[in-house]
Amino acid sequence: MNDTEENSPGIKTPKQLITVLFAAFVFPITIIVLLAQVASGGISPDENDPALSGEVIAKRLKPIGSLMFTSALPQAGKQLTREADKAQTVAVSGDTDKVETIYSASCAACHASGAAGAPKLGDKQAWAPRIKSGSDALYNSAIKGKKAMPAKGGNVNLSDVDVKAVVDYMVSKVE
Ligand code: HEC
Repeated sequence: MNDTEENSPGIKTPKQLITVLFAAFVFPITIIVLLAQVASGGISPDENDPALSGEVIAKRLKPIGSLMFTSALPQAGKQLTREADKAQTVAVSGDTDKVETIYSASCAACHASGAAGAPKLGDKQAWAPRIKSGSDALYNSAIKGKKAMPAKGGNVNLSDVDVKAVVDYMVSKVE
C-alpha cells in the first residue's frame, strides 16, 4: 500500500485533520444539542402559549394564602370574615360607628340626597308622618322594601338586626 495514497489510514493532511475533528467532536455535540432541544420542547418559548402568559405564571408563583387584617370587626380575633361585606352583618344595635358605616354604604345613596323620594336623613318634616306609623312599620319597610326602596336598601347581606339598627339611627337624627 502506498503511504501517499489519499484514503490511506492515519492523518496526513490538514483536510483530514478537520474531517476527523468534525466527526469526533462537532458532529456528536450537535446531535446532543439537538436531542436536548427535542426533549425540552425547544429552547425558545412560544410567546402566544397561554400557559406562559404573565398572569398564569403569576398565579403559579402566587403564595398559598394571604393574611388580612381587619379592624372593622367588633370581635376581631373571635370572628374573622374574608369579605368586607360580611363584616357589616356583625353590627349590633348601639354600635354607632358600625351603623354609620352601613348607612353610608347601603342607605346614603338615596337617604342623603332624598333621591327617588326617599325621606332625607335629618329632615324632620319628611320623617314625622312615617315615625307616627311606629318603629315596626319602619323596620318592615326597610327590611322588605317600599316603593322605590329595594329590600334592605339593596344590600341582601345585611341582617334584619343591622337594618333595624340603621332605621333607629335614621330616626334618632330627627328626634
Ligand atoms: C334606592 C334608594 C334607597 C336606598 C338605597 C334606601 N332607601 Fe330607604 N327609602 C327610599 C325611598 C324612595 C323611600 C320612601 C318610600 C315611600 O314611602 O315611598 C324610603 C323610605 C325609607 C324608610 C321609611 C319607610 C316608611 O315606612 O315610611 C326607612 C325607615 C328607610 N327608607 C330606611 C332605609 C335603610 C335603613 C336603608 C339602608 C339599609 C335604606 N332605606 C336604603 C329609598 C332608598
